[in-house]
Order: sequence, then structure tokens, then C-alpha cells
Amino acid sequence: MPPALFESCATERLLLRRPNPADALAIFDSYAADPEVTRFLIWLRHQRIADTLAFIEFADEVWTSTGIGPLLIVRAADGAVLGSTGIDLDGPGRASIGYVLARAAWGKGYATETLGAVVDLGRRAGLSELHAWVHPENPASIRVLEKCGFARQPGYPRTEVFPNLGTPVPVPLFEYTRELQPP
Ligand SMILES: CC(C)(COP(=O)(O)OP(=O)(O)OC[C@H]1O[C@@H](n2cnc3c(N)ncnc32)[C@H](O)[C@@H]1OP(=O)(O)O)[C@@H](O)C(=O)NCCC(=O)NCCS
Repeated sequence: MPPALFESCATERLLLRRPNPADALAIFDSYAADPEVTRFLIWLRHQRIADTLAFIEFADEVWTSTGIGPLLIVRAADGAVLGSTGIDLDGPGRASIGYVLARAAWGKGYATETLGAVVDLGRRAGLSELHAWVHPENPASIRVLEKCGFARQPGYPRTEVFPNLGTPVPVPLFEYTRELQPP
């Protein structure tokens, strides 16, 4: 896939764009180091700016090797970093998605707006299915998935240890999927 096609996309209020090293401090300060924001995420909360720089380096590797990858969620009006999202290819025509927003950006419909754009991006990238894994006690995220047309699959197909919850006990996850039609 030619990366430039998917490196950024605009919504009504947001810009989704590929991260770069100049974003590190904003990512760290706005969401990546916040214990409340990262509770239900499967990556370890950032402890120092080096963790954020490692994420940006990882994002670059993913973009280089797959032509799609992590995107920052930026407020279009002033360029403020609000969170991140992205498409992670994990099979032919199939990818997983995720999203996280800084606490100050919650409750404004930004996640729904973001996921709508990510679904569209996945469709334009030729994917046929997106899926998401979610902690069963994360109702806001479940609501966002349902609003964007994702449907819960039966059972608990996978378990995961959530590193920011402070317990090594694996949690059975909900899986949500959405089929995509070609544009
Ligand atoms: C989950 C998250 C992305 C939601 O972002 P957001 O921008 O506030 O989401 P939206 O405003 O688009 O939509 C949230 C919906 O959930 C609902 N909601 C919020 N808290 C809820 C709760 N405790 N119980 C039930 N519904 C809830 C809202 O009312 C809204 O639904 P509505 O439009 O029908 O009223 C944000 O809270 C977040 O970043 N959380 C931490 C990271 C995270 O958990 N990411 C997902 C990992 S799977």
C-alpha cells in the first residue's frame, strides 16, 4: 500500500496523522502517562519520555513495513494532540483497531468521530474486516464500538493481562468486529 494515502485524514473537528518525534512531549503529557486513561490499555503506561520516543520509533517501523499504522488524534483547530488510534494489520484483509484520548477530551464525541474515520480508512485500504478487543468493564469504549457499527462476537475468544491494572491475572476480553464493503 502506498503509505502517503493513509498517513493523514481529516474529520469535521479532527486530524488523524502519523506521529513524529516532535510529538513526544505532547503525547506523554496529554494521555500516555495518565493512569486513569491507560487503565484498560494493553500497553504499559509511559513512565518517561523515552517510552514515548520508543512508541514513535515503533510506529515508524510499522508504517515502513506495512504501509499503514498508528495515527495521532489532533484537534484540527489548533493542532493539540488529543490521543491516538490506528490500524494494525493482523491477517489477510483484516486488522485490529484501537483508540485512546486524553481525559480532557472525553465526552465530546471525539472517539466516535475518530473510529468513523478509521473505518473509512480501513475500507479505502482495501480491508474486509476490522476488529477490536475490549475489557468488559470499559462501557464507554463498548458504546463507541457499537455506535460505529461493530458487533460483539460470542464468548471471550482471548485473554490478556492488563499491565496498568496492577494484577497479573489475565482478563477474558470481548471481541467486536465490523465487516467492510469496498468503497
Ligand atoms: C473510551 C474513550 C476512547 C471514549 O472516548 P469519548 O470521546 O469520550 O467517546 P464518545 O464521546 O465518542 O462516546 C462515548 C459514549 O460512551 C458513553 N459512555 C461514557 N461513559 C459511559 C459509561 N460509564 N457507561 C455507559 N456509557 C458510557 C457516552 O455517553 C457516549 O455514548 P452516547 O454518544 O450514546 O451518549 C475514552 O474514554 C478513553 O480514551 N478511555 C481510555 C482509553 C480506552 O479505554 N480506550 C479504549 C480501549 S478498548
